[in-house]
Amino acid sequence: MTEQKPEQKRFSRKEISERNTKKDAVFIIDNLVYDVTKFLDDHPGGHEVLLNVIGKDASEDFDDVGHSIDAKEMMKKYCIGELVDEDKTESKKQKSLWSSSSDNTEATNDSFLSSWKFPVVLGLLLTVLYSYVFG
Ligand code: HEM
Repeated sequence: MTEQKPEQKRFSRKEISERNTKKDAVFIIDNLVYDVTKFLDDHPGGHEVLLNVIGKDASEDFDDVGHSIDAKEMMKKYCIGELVDEDKTESKKQKSLWSSSSDNTEATNDSFLSSWKFPVVLGLLLTVLYSYVFG
């Protein structure tokens, strides 16, 4: 009620791949679909970078630039919907799971046996033992 939400339409990747012209410029970022036709000339990074990714999944390119919070706020305005479930990727979530160690306490609890330390310590002990016995 407070916020006017754009209609959440569903698109397939194939549909988006056909919308790759200056007059109909659409791309995907993190499974959401953005129509930047009217934004091309206003983009602070220039229209060429956007033209390079229209019709495609621009998630990585967008992330690589390290866009500001302001930019992320701004992009909501151009969101016209999302991908159909079959075409969504999980890659982003998986990536952040790998890089976040905060909720990974379970793995660190029993990590000694499974980590690199165990074979290294074992190796050292055996070396010392070997040199005592045969040295
Ligand atoms: C709707 C989507 C987008 C919005 C609203 C947006 C907005 C912005 C804004 C506000 C800036 C100024 C710097 C900042 O505040 O971070 C910026 C810079 C830039 N953007 Fe975007 N952007 C979008 C998509 C993209 C995509 C998909 C790419 C790459 C293909 C891209 C490439 C760049 C580049 C190269 C700069 C210049 C960075 C610099 O000068 O250091 N942007 N964008």
